[in-house]
Amino acid sequence: MEKIRKAVIPVAGFGTRFLPATKATPKEMMPIVDKPIIQYIVEEAVASGIETIIFVTGRHKRAIEDHFDYAPELEYALTKSGKEEYVNIIREISDMADFVYIRQKEQLGLGHAILMAEHVIGNEPFAVLLGDELIINNENPGIHQLIEVYRKFGKSVLGTTEVPKEETYKYGIVEGTFIEDHIRLVNYLVEKPDPEEAPSTSAIIGRYILTPDIFNALKRTPFGKGGELQLTDALMTLRKDEVIYSKDIEGIRHDTGNKLGYIKAIIDFALERADTKDFVRELIINKARELEG
Ligand code: UTP
Repeated sequence: MEKIRKAVIPVAGFGTRFLPATKATPKEMMPIVDKPIIQYIVEEAVASGIETIIFVTGRHKRAIEDHFDYAPELEYALTKSGKEEYVNIIREISDMADFVYIRQKEQLGLGHAILMAEHVIGNEPFAVLLGDELIINNENPGIHQLIEVYRKFGKSVLGTTEVPKEETYKYGIVEGTFIEDHIRLVNYLVEKPDPEEAPSTSAIIGRYILTPDIFNALKRTPFGKGGELQLTDALMTLRKDEVIYSKDIEGIRHDTGNKLGYIKAIIDFALERADTKDFVRELIINKARELEG
């Protein structure tokens, strides 16, 4: 079975839900405390054995390329001013993996973004990670849990979690048959269904292992919801030719693609970190007292 060596991270979206912050700054560069969201995603991929990261980018996304590049002027200035501890921190970011950048010239959807990576992926299975979801599991990273399922069955695997019925309209929804604990054989997929039409409450949460057959499936799939080429629709096309599995990912999940989820993620992370937790805990307790009057 082929090793999963490459991961595609699509970052070409407009990030409209975070305007005006995302007018000139990629939403993937927004920090959770002091680390940009995209770095957590890359760290998850690297901790799962990924060697090459393929970013599908668009205009106004240069900050992402700079973040994963060396910064010699900054390193020099930090060394000169005796702040060597930061030099390692910023250099390690660039040394984590090989980074490849591909432009998606028109934002025609997530499926279209994945298709842009075809010539770099070639004919091997690969991972996809979206920056909207942070999945924290230090023992077994989210994408690694899917790689384990791929190793067993050799087919595409979708990362899922249960969501409240009224939230199905935000996700690709999977209907499947359990074959093992937390693992389903996928029967049917639908992109962002209304709650009354949702076939289940099992939602795809931005982690995928895909066989290279997805590229042909994408080419055969018509543009769908929102006039975009939807990855979920292409997975349904792929499903007609080969089996697909889904796996409920274990870990703490943060939906950072919307404002409330983003705020919650920052608070949760700040409450975990040694350098911020006491301050933030006290702040929250005092604030709660103040609000209760
Ligand atoms: P979203 O639907 O969350 O879009 O895309 P978005 O632009 O990032 O955010 P909003 O909805 O406007 O606030 C899911 C993922 O797919 C990527 C996005 O960058 C994001 O990681 N994407 C989406 C592309 O790379 N290209 C596209 O054409 C569409």
